[in-house]
Amino acid sequence: MKILILGGTGSIGSAVTAELVLGSHEVVGLCRSEASAQKLVALGARPWRGDLCQPETWQAALEGIDVVIQLASTFGPDMGEVDAQAVTAILEAARGRSQPLRVLYTGGCWLYGETGDLTASETSPQRPIPAFSWMQDSANRLLQGSNIACGVIHPAMVYHEDGGGVFSRMLSQAASGLPVEVWGSISTRWPLVHRRDLARAYRMLAEQPELTGHFNVSAQTGVAVREILGEISSRYAHDGSYVVRNRKHVMFKYGDWAEGPTLDQQMRADKIQAFCGWRPEIRDFTQAEF
Ligand SMILES: NC(=O)c1ccc[n+]([C@@H]2O[C@H](COP(=O)([O-])OP(=O)(O)OC[C@H]3O[C@@H](n4cnc5c(N)ncnc54)[C@H](OP(=O)(O)O)[C@@H]3O)[C@@H](O)[C@H]2O)c1
Repeated sequence: MKILILGGTGSIGSAVTAELVLGSHEVVGLCRSEASAQKLVALGARPWRGDLCQPETWQAALEGIDVVIQLASTFGPDMGEVDAQAVTAILEAARGRSQPLRVLYTGGCWLYGETGDLTASETSPQRPIPAFSWMQDSANRLLQGSNIACGVIHPAMVYHEDGGGVFSRMLSQAASGLPVEVWGSISTRWPLVHRRDLARAYRMLAEQPELTGHFNVSAQTGVAVREILGEISSRYAHDGSYVVRNRKHVMFKYGDWAEGPTLDQQMRADKIQAFCGWRPEIRDFTQAEF
């Protein structure tokens, strides 16, 4: 299939690009710099120079595409607006086609809000944290779009071998021997997935013609920060000391997005397993490289 990926050089996107190429798909990747273009070429994709913030620079790349994957984000104050414009461009491109356009849109576990002892499934009510509530609007517009087959993927907290992903802050603090900052509470649970398993989920869903609705992707339903810190401490010969920063403190210091890691969440991924047979290969983060 011919696939356009927005954000194909990012932390998640680079793994998805590699996985799609490995699956013999023809991948075109949006890029805004020479460095990103080279990264795409190295991954086996064809670069398309343009800017996410200016859909007129990449809308033509949607012609003749079977699937478009949205994994790009500016993460700036304009991120919701930029995403909404990108969604509008995708909706417009789908209208004139003879075949429905398949779209994989990226949401995230933070759209479920704090679940506590409950476990979020795709039918659970969404209570997104304000910093990312725009994702819900974009997802709904795509799900209701005409001539579109849309899957909305909700990745758990994503870790990987190249800097740690969601573990990166704790890893660098542990490596420097300082007490590790714990955001919220040491008992806070994070649903987890390794980037390689997540990339496989994107590829497997992209290959499904009857794509529709929400798909959670987690390998571990909810792992307490206490366990994550314990594992990191043992890997870095750190003494395990930590200092708790409350939600208000981290949001003031780092921005509204910092509410996300303070959420006590559990999320399961039964639907994608039944829908396309996806199974995580890494079921326990303590067995993974990061
Ligand atoms: N990481 C997680 O644990 C997690 C969990 C759930 C959901 N998500 C969601 O997944 C998505 C991707 O996250 P990520 O962690 O992979 O982010 P990331 O590493 O920061 O990647 C962002 C991507 O967007 C591209 N981009 C940004 N601004 C652009 C612009 N103006 N024009 C063209 N491309 C632009 C970047 O390209 P450059 O190469 O030019 O920088 C990069 O490829 C986000 O929506 C995030 O909220 C992430």
